[in-house]
Amino acid sequence: MNEQINELKVQLDSQLSQVSTTQELEGIRVAFLGKNGSITELLKKMGGLSPEEKKSFGQAVNVLKGYATQAIAAKVEELNKIELEKELNALPEIDLSAPTHLVKGSYHPITLVQRHCENVFRTMGFNIEDYSEVVTDYECFEALNIPKFHPARDMQDTYYLENGQLLKSHTSAAQNAIYKKYKDDLINEGRPIRAIFPGRCFRNESTDACHENTFFQMEGVMVDKNISISNLIFFMKTMLSEVFQRDLKVRLRPGFFPFVEPGFELDISCAICGGEGCPSCKHSGWLELCPCGMIHPNVLKEGGIDPDEYTGFAFGLGLTRLAMMKYGVKDIRDLNSGNLTSLDQFTDDK
Ligand code: PHE
Repeated sequence: MNEQINELKVQLDSQLSQVSTTQELEGIRVAFLGKNGSITELLKKMGGLSPEEKKSFGQAVNVLKGYATQAIAAKVEELNKIELEKELNALPEIDLSAPTHLVKGSYHPITLVQRHCENVFRTMGFNIEDYSEVVTDYECFEALNIPKFHPARDMQDTYYLENGQLLKSHTSAAQNAIYKKYKDDLINEGRPIRAIFPGRCFRNESTDACHENTFFQMEGVMVDKNISISNLIFFMKTMLSEVFQRDLKVRLRPGFFPFVEPGFELDISCAICGGEGCPSCKHSGWLELCPCGMIHPNVLKEGGIDPDEYTGFAFGLGLTRLAMMKYGVKDIRDLNSGNLTSLDQFTDDK
């Protein structure tokens, strides 16, 4: 009996010394310690032995079992180490002396357009504000004169969190917080509110070449005494002429947004054909670029500003749209793709 035990130990040692993969090792484990493995079989043979024999034989088999378990575990560790080393050696070595321009990143086209617009507005005295992407229903809708069940909500279906918060569907969601932040400066010190707030927006939309569920806007507001539509037109014309670096014509058409009254769609003369008419402007000579309007009295009131004393304008510039026009991007999905080959080519600043 003891010979059998010794023989098994010798077999195990010899097989373990030759094994080179974890798969083979698992085969050995099953052959010795598995349900029908040779060590397990030995224990099954104990039935016909006298009580004394049973005791000493049982002990000896258990010692072998413990030895096998440990030896196999040690081998697993050893093989894992070897396999990891092999994987690491297969990785390409990093050459620290390689020229750095080969690995340098580039700015995203939307970042470039956003920074350009920010600079233009900064020179006109606007503050640049950052705002959260997760907002409340109040910020995104109620404070903007869009009560629950208002049909205007259908246009801005978005993604909701379990706690009732949502991913903002437009940068207008920051308006209320901006009014509250600056209203004291306006009322007590007569300092007009001038702020822009660029940001990522989300809408629950099926995507195609012109629609994305994630895109960028840049909101702007100005509030003071006697602000009128002429101020709005002046600011928009100056800003867009700077962005496109040419003198653009603008026109306003009526547009409906519950948080502005009156509301407009602002068009610019087509930058591609100069207003003659071409496929990009559907032969009209005009491109729809920026919804805007005079801030609705209810929205000012909700922000703590008296609409009888102060007026203001707001606009929502589509940054993604602007980047597409500026760089001639045909498919909006390229911008979120993370595909560096397609993103790199629009970038003039690396
Ligand atoms: N928030 C509106 C939208 O995304 C755009 C807008 C902004 C309209 C400001 C008017 C004034 O559809």
